[in-house]
Amino acid sequence: MKPIRVGLIGLGTVGQGVIKVLRENAEEITRRVGRPVVVTHASARDLSRERGVDLTGVQLTTDSMSIARDADVDVVAELIGGHSPAAELILAAIGRGKSVVTANKALIAQDGNRIFDAARKAGVAVAFEAAVAGGIPIIKAIREGLAGNRIESVAGIINGTCNYILTQMTEKGEDFAEALAAAQKLGYAEADPTFDIEGVDAAHKLTILASIAFGIPLSFEAVATEGITRVTSQDIANARQLGYRIKLLGIAKRSEGGVELRVQPTFIPEDKLLAKVDGVLNSVLVKGNAVGQVGFYGRGAGSEATASSVVADIVDIARALTGESRYTVPALAFQPDAVKPLPL
Ligand code: HSE
Repeated sequence: MKPIRVGLIGLGTVGQGVIKVLRENAEEITRRVGRPVVVTHASARDLSRERGVDLTGVQLTTDSMSIARDADVDVVAELIGGHSPAAELILAAIGRGKSVVTANKALIAQDGNRIFDAARKAGVAVAFEAAVAGGIPIIKAIREGLAGNRIESVAGIINGTCNYILTQMTEKGEDFAEALAAAQKLGYAEADPTFDIEGVDAAHKLTILASIAFGIPLSFEAVATEGITRVTSQDIANARQLGYRIKLLGIAKRSEGGVELRVQPTFIPEDKLLAKVDGVLNSVLVKGNAVGQVGFYGRGAGSEATASSVVADIVDIARALTGESRYTVPALAFQPDAVKPLPL
């Protein structure tokens, strides 16, 4: 059976996870798709680096653009993050009629409109489940599972690094720097961890969630953003004494005339669900007018959890390519002026 050929751009934490998950679950995935799904090509800046994954049978290159353009690649997965060259690589793949999977929240939040326009015109999909909340399938849940609702709010813990740091400070008495170093070592943090601790990564994710939930344009600039760098051990101790936990929350709420978007450290009563979400776990609560409140909970960062979402998108696209499903994953679709984000 001719396989669906995946080209991976990036062999870091997530890329390695994707190779592992596709291999380990090959049997299930072949059954779901109707054909095997195999990583045939991969690129990385440094090919001499030791990786924790067997790369036998994968054609390796340092030239990422060659993967985006390769006629022997059916689906491209961009897993390098950052704006450039990720944007150029994705647009090149779209230009060759390939659907793309990406975990790149910064790029989608800030330049997604351009990428989705190109995908729409080319009739291909850009899928980005892994961009928000790691292994939690929150994009599909809101876009598909909750499509019958008028969404009132989306709120939750959407940065694993910050939640890990706050948990270590709360439960183990670790200091901030020590906890951040551990989060980096575990592969949770961004290449530039200031994105995590200053709330920027959570703001990227909130931008994407709000766009899907409320049908508003991607509005990163409209997110009022505060990270956790000013949260001290004393704040945490005080919160505990009063029966609260401090969590970094992303909140998108429909309000009169618009949608409020904010990322901020928040006191949460310790008996509430979100107060109990510890370590790298993320949790997102969505309120819809038909369903009421629904909650999602799971690993928000890390190699295989994030790979779970990347592979789900690859499977979606592969199913469309083999005709197993009749629709391709839609690009982000919104009514440009349906709901305006509130100005800050
Ligand atoms: N740095 C991100 C986090 C990775 O800690 O949540 C997953 O998006």
